[in-house]
Amino acid sequence: MSAAPAIVARVNRLRASLEEHNYNYYVLDRPEIPDAEYDRMFRELQDIEREYPRLVTPASPTQRVGAAPASGFAQVTHRTPMLSLNNAFEDDEVFAFDRRVCEALGRAAVDYAAEPKFDGLAVSLTYERGVLVTGATRGDGASGEDVTANLRTVHAIPLRLRTQEAPEVIDVRGEVVMTKANFERLNARQREQGERLFANPRNAAAGSLRQLDPRITATRGLSFFAYGIGGTTGHPLATHAELMDWLAELGFSVTHERQVVQGVDGMLDYFRRMTEKRARLPFDIDGVVYKVNELAAHNTLGFVSRAPRFAIAHKFAAEEALTVVEDIAVQVGRTGALTPVACLKPVFVGGVTVTHATLHNEDEVVRKDIRIGDTVVVRRAGDVIPEVVRSLPELRPAHAHSFALPQHCPVCGSDVRKLEDEAIARCVAGLYCPAQRKQALRHFASRHALDIEGLGDKTVELLVERELVRTPADLYQLKAADLAQLEGLAEKSAGNLVAAIEKSKHTTFERFIYALGIRNVGEATARDLARYFGSMERLQAADVEALQEVPDVGPVVAQSIAGFFGEPHNRDVIAQLTAAGVRFAEAAAGRPRATSAVYGKTFVLTGALPHLTRDEAQQRLRDRGAKVTGSVSKKTDFVVAGADPGSKHDKARELGITILDEAGLLKLLEGGGT
Ligand code: IVH
Repeated sequence: MSAAPAIVARVNRLRASLEEHNYNYYVLDRPEIPDAEYDRMFRELQDIEREYPRLVTPASPTQRVGAAPASGFAQVTHRTPMLSLNNAFEDDEVFAFDRRVCEALGRAAVDYAAEPKFDGLAVSLTYERGVLVTGATRGDGASGEDVTANLRTVHAIPLRLRTQEAPEVIDVRGEVVMTKANFERLNARQREQGERLFANPRNAAAGSLRQLDPRITATRGLSFFAYGIGGTTGHPLATHAELMDWLAELGFSVTHERQVVQGVDGMLDYFRRMTEKRARLPFDIDGVVYKVNELAAHNTLGFVSRAPRFAIAHKFAAEEALTVVEDIAVQVGRTGALTPVACLKPVFVGGVTVTHATLHNEDEVVRKDIRIGDTVVVRRAGDVIPEVVRSLPELRPAHAHSFALPQHCPVCGSDVRKLEDEAIARCVAGLYCPAQRKQALRHFASRHALDIEGLGDKTVELLVERELVRTPADLYQLKAADLAQLEGLAEKSAGNLVAAIEKSKHTTFERFIYALGIRNVGEATARDLARYFGSMERLQAADVEALQEVPDVGPVVAQSIAGFFGEPHNRDVIAQLTAAGVRFAEAAAGRPRATSAVYGKTFVLTGALPHLTRDEAQQRLRDRGAKVTGSVSKKTDFVVAGADPGSKHDKARELGITILDEAGLLKLLEGGGT
C-alpha cells in the first residue's frame, strides 16, 4: 500500500519532533515536553510505520532498537586509524610536552584545548550525507567491531545530524560512558537478579556495548561524548575549540568542562581544577587531555608511532591498588555502630598512602568474602574515604581466616545488637560507652553544631578518659584550671577553650537539635524540625505521628526522634544544658513566614563569593525560608555565582535561570519585606 501525501507529511513531522525532543532530553538535558507526550508521538509513529512499512527509514526514531540479536560482530576497518594518546603522570612530563610543541612550532607559547579524559570506550561513528551508517569500537586502532545496532540505542548519538549541509561522509570520534548513577542502578538490578556485578562504570559500559542483543544495550542508559573526528571535515574550522562547537551544533553531546588554556600554567591549573571537581562529575574520568588548539599545527606536529604529537593525556594518580589485609579491627561510632575496618599493608593509592579502609558492615565483609590475609583491591577516589572493593580469592594464602563481629563492644564490653532489618550492629550502651561518648562530644562541638573552637579530638579523648566530662552538659562546668591539667593544653589555650565553651551558649534552635546527635537527624532535618516546632517543649512533646507531619520526615526518622526524647537520660542532658545557660531563640512554629522575597525559592550556590562564605550565604537564605540545593535543574529558581563558577553556571544559562552575583543576592535578601 502506498501512503497518501498527508500521511508522509505526518510521519515527517512526527520524526522531526521526536528527534528534537530526543536531543533536548539526552544531549541538552533540558526536556521541553512531558514524557507521556513523547511516548504518545512515538506510538503514533510506530503505528503508522507498522501500517506502511515502506515508510520506515534507518534514521527513524523508532529504529533505535529493532535489530535482532546478532551472533557476533563484524569487523570494520577505520577509514582513519583510531590512535592512542601518550600519557603524562607528573607535571614535568607536561612541561616536556609543551617544550616539544613550542620548539616544533617555533613559538614561545601555545594555546591548548583542555578537556576531561573520559573513562569509557572509544567509538567511531560514520555519517554518510548526515545519516548514521556505521558505529564501531576502537579495536586495535586499525579495525574494530561493528556495534552499530547497539550504538543506535544510545539516545545521545544522533541518528541524523542536525544540519542541512552535512558533509558527504564524516567519522565522529568519542567515548561511550555510563554515568555513576546508572552504574549504581545497573548493579543494584544485577544484584537483585543474582547476576554478575560490574567492577566500575567503564566495564559496565563496555559490557553493555558488546551485547549481542541491542535490546539489552537499550536498557543500560549509556551516554556518549564526542571529542574529535577522523580525517578532515570539509568545513572551515581553525581550532579544536571550534570543532567541538561545531560537533555540538551537529547534535552531539560535547563536554561542558572543555576550556582553552594558555601554556603549561594553564594546563596545570586546569588539571588541578578537574582533580578537585572529579568526584562531583556525573561520570568517571581518569585524567584530562590537552590538545594543541590550532588545527593547522596538528599537521605540522604529526605523529610518533601510534600517538599524535599534538596531544597528551595527563592522568590522575591511580585510584585502585592491590594490597594485603593484615587484620580487621572494629570501630565504634557515635551511634554505637560497629564498623569493621581493614588494617592494610601500607599502599600508595589516589595520591596518598593508605593504611586503613572501611569495610562498612559485617554483611559487606561476608558478601565480598574478605578474609584476614587476603589480597584485596583498595580504592580511594578523590577525597572519599578509602574502601576495600573486592578480594582476590585466587591469591588467598592457606592461613587466611574469616572475620566475625564481636558479641561485645570492644570498647565498653556491653552487648552488641543487630536489628533484624538493619545491616548495622550496635553497642547498646549509648552514652555510657566511652567510644560513643567521645564521638557524641566531638559532634556536639563540631562546626555546624555548637561550634566550640579548640575542642579537638585529643582534648575530647582526655576529657572522657579522665572522667571530667560524661555528657555535653558537663562541658559547661569545666574550669580553666581543670583543663590546664590536661597534657598538651597550655594555660592560654585552656582559657581560650573555656571562653569558646562560654560563647557556644548562644546558639540557634536548629544547631542545638543537630548537636544532640539524634540518629538520622542531619542538618537539614534539624532545620526542618526547628522551623516546624519552634520550641524544644513542642518538639519533645511530639509523637511519631506529629513528627511525620514535618515535610521530609518519614517513619524511620520520626521513630528515632521520638525514641531519643523518650529516653529520660537524654531529657536530663537537655535540661542540664538549659540549666547551664545554653540559649537559643525559640520562635512561633511555622516561621519564617512567606514575607521574604526568597521564601520558598530554590537556590544553587557556585563559585567563591567575595564576602560571604558558602555557609553564611546558605544560612541567610535558609533563615528566610529558601531551599539551597547542590545541583541545577528546572526546579532551580536562582543560581548565585561567585568566582570560577564552573558547569553549574553554564547549566543555569542553558536553562535560562536567573544568575545572581553576591550583590544581587544581598539585595534580594534585604528586599521583599520581613
Ligand atoms: S582524543 C588522536 N580526547 O583516550 C587521539 N581521547 O589514550 C584521539 N579518551 O582511545 C583521542 N577522553 O578512548 C581524546 N577527551 C578525549 C578523550 C579521549 C577519553 C580516550 C580515547 C582514546 C584514549 C587515548
